[in-house]
Amino acid sequence: MNILVTGGCGFIGSNFIHYLFETRDDVNIINLDKLTYAGNRKNLTDIEKKHAGERYIFVHGDINDPELVAGILNVHEIDRVVNFAAESHVDRSINDPSPFITTNINGTQTLLEAARQRGVARFLQVSTDEVYGSLGPDGRFSETTPLAPNSPYSASKASADLLARAYFKTYGIPIIITRCSNNYGPYQFPEKLIPLLFSNASSDQAIPVYGDGLNVRDWIYVRDHCKGVAMALENGIPGQVYNFGGNAEMANIDIVKTILGQLGKPESLIHFVADRPGHDKRYAMDFSLATKELGWTPDHDFATGIKETIEWYSKNKKWLKEVQSGEYRTFMRNWYQDRK
Ligand code: NAD
Ligand code: DAU
Repeated sequence: MNILVTGGCGFIGSNFIHYLFETRDDVNIINLDKLTYAGNRKNLTDIEKKHAGERYIFVHGDINDPELVAGILNVHEIDRVVNFAAESHVDRSINDPSPFITTNINGTQTLLEAARQRGVARFLQVSTDEVYGSLGPDGRFSETTPLAPNSPYSASKASADLLARAYFKTYGIPIIITRCSNNYGPYQFPEKLIPLLFSNASSDQAIPVYGDGLNVRDWIYVRDHCKGVAMALENGIPGQVYNFGGNAEMANIDIVKTILGQLGKPESLIHFVADRPGHDKRYAMDFSLATKELGWTPDHDFATGIKETIEWYSKNKKWLKEVQSGEYRTFMRNWYQDRK
């Protein structure tokens, strides 16, 4: 099976490539990645050493390049596409929505069009629970919950989902959409809450908590998400949307206190800062359809997943330092300057 994975040098994409090589013998992977600030080829050093040129090929490029994408699909006889490539950080989308429109919407359309021309067997669009908007204190998102995105990021992801749906309805392209809750685990870029928390706490820097810290996310260990994407790619029904969640709803402040406790750091590091504009209050996922149709459930509870995650970051402080480039430091400084 020849699979084009886009955005494979990012957090979830690199975990997915690791997961596939660990669990499947019949896959060849082409990884197309633009290597933005969030993409890091070193996330796959072991895969390159073991499989490069044979079962694994890296292509440095943009999903928005139609000739490149069509060339990859034809030359490598791609029969499956998994689109992870995206601008993924909500705060950055508030600062500047443009790259989110370019990559998440136009880039997805470029891929869909190339997949249509090639006639692929499956196209899996990796999406997010954020397309559903925000929940009150009760209930969970199901696949039929109306889309109501609140940030430029989630609006761009919802737009891509609708384009994918349209390519299924209009052209019959076998599209599957997966929507997942908040991932955590190895290789997550330290602008996101959990790795930022680890990074700041390790060096005794303040932990910024937005608003009252009572916003709730449903946390899923990244490997469980990868397992779901692999199962949906193999056995998902074309045209179907599948929700994935971790059964681990937690308020941000509780996450922060838990991790500080595990690191033996004081709660005095917590700094409440101005809220994120349009901040969704609560996410929770009903993933019973994925359980019923794919046989998927998450394997990790939060306690197990966060222990493994903290161990990984503790052993990989060099990785953490290397990804904190000048661009990263400038973004973080300016963003948190405005939130004081
Ligand atoms: P990430 O920011 O860590 O990685 C994104 C990757 O895409 C990077 O390697 C980057 O270089 C690449 N990329 C960006 N623009 C590109 C372009 N134009 N062409 C080619 N490559 C490009 O993101 P992530 O957290 O790994 O998220 C991956 C996908 O999963 C995204 O589509 C995101 O919306 C979705 N998702 C993420 C989460 C989460 O909790 N992180 C949850 C649900 C869904
Ligand atoms: O729900 C899935 C989504 O999860 C994905 O689609 C996104 O790509 C991914 O970035 C993530 O979005 P969030 O905005 O939920 O993740 P983030 O880690 O940025 O924030 C998690 C929560 O923590 C959110 O309520 C905002 C809050 N937060 C975040 C940061 C970075 C803080 O309180 N302080 C912070 O410094």
